Amino acid sequence: MEIKITRKLNPAAKPQDESKLGFGTIFTDHMFLMLWDKAQGWHDAEILPLGNLSIHPSSSVLHYGAEIFEGLKAYRRADGGIQLFRPWENFARFNRSARRMGLPEVDPEFCLEALKKLIALDADWVPHNPGTSLYIRPFMFGDDENLAVHGSGKARFIIILSPVGSYYPEGLAPVKIMIEDEDVRAVRGGTGEAKCGGNYGASVRAGNRAEERGFSQVLWLDGVEQKYIEEVGAMNIMFKINGRIVTPALNGSILPGITRKSILELLRSKGIEAEERRISVDELMEAARTGALEEAWGCGTAAVVSPVGVLAYQGEEYTIGGGKIGTVTQQLYNELTGIQWGELPDPFGWVCKLN
Ligand code: PLP
Ligand code: COI
Repeated sequence: MEIKITRKLNPAAKPQDESKLGFGTIFTDHMFLMLWDKAQGWHDAEILPLGNLSIHPSSSVLHYGAEIFEGLKAYRRADGGIQLFRPWENFARFNRSARRMGLPEVDPEFCLEALKKLIALDADWVPHNPGTSLYIRPFMFGDDENLAVHGSGKARFIIILSPVGSYYPEGLAPVKIMIEDEDVRAVRGGTGEAKCGGNYGASVRAGNRAEERGFSQVLWLDGVEQKYIEEVGAMNIMFKINGRIVTPALNGSILPGITRKSILELLRSKGIEAEERRISVDELMEAARTGALEEAWGCGTAAVVSPVGVLAYQGEEYTIGGGKIGTVTQQLYNELTGIQWGELPDPFGWVCKLN
């Protein structure tokens, strides 16, 4: 399929101070968009100036949450070139999410080509400061003009781009996380392992409560017994307990993070086998009390590797590793970001160079 390109006539000014980018509030000049319906499949692919969408008020996304998304980044290398990190994994997960939500699948290779063309057009928006990147948000929504609940007969796929700094205002300083014991995020057989908007909409109440109490995000427990650790609002979670690295096993209700997978592969390549298993909140709290919990960190595209300095559960607060970033956390941050920004070799073939 050909991609029609319409350039913006008056490109917007780029952010002057890249140290103040934050996350997800500034957007580049262009977006990619294509349409789908049952009769034609995907069609009308185009790159056009970023702008508002026109949408029918009965559109299924507005009523029944027919929406999925992805998150990946483009990184500026020291030589000025631009590269992506494991984009193939994102489009494969996107299609798994599409299947779960009754939305049409995309052609991953075509989407990657479209993304490359879009970034080439907005290349000046990829920031240069250490720790900054261009966040890429592909998403799709069902667009049927029909109030009956059903699989989507029409959909739109869009990619927008946003220059970002760190997700948490704390940067690499440890964040405070509250273990949520009222709301749940997902149950097995539900949509937890899909990256769909509804999962995040349902998480907002608990997130707000955590913020009011001075925490950055919540750590979710399983939705059945509220006994086992699952993941954080926008990242997977890992712990170092008694010298061993452990992380909750993928069980259908956790998002299978690409950063999580990369860290496990990175560790494995050094002969360190992290345990993927059920971790009960009781085990974690006991380890926090006795000091056996040496480190905790979250990992995700937006969050990168984020040390957790404080964990709170049922009114009690535990400081981990003296509230400082631990050695394993720091090393994983250095190695992962080193590969992502092209400062370290990429023996795994994770990097996709654009130029
Ligand atoms: N878990 C949730 C709920 C997320 O939103 C994210 C972010 O995408 C992750 C985990 C980490 O996934 P990834 O490493 O693929 O970005
Ligand atoms: C990402 O890390 O890409 C995410 O999707 C997290 C997001 C919900 C901000």
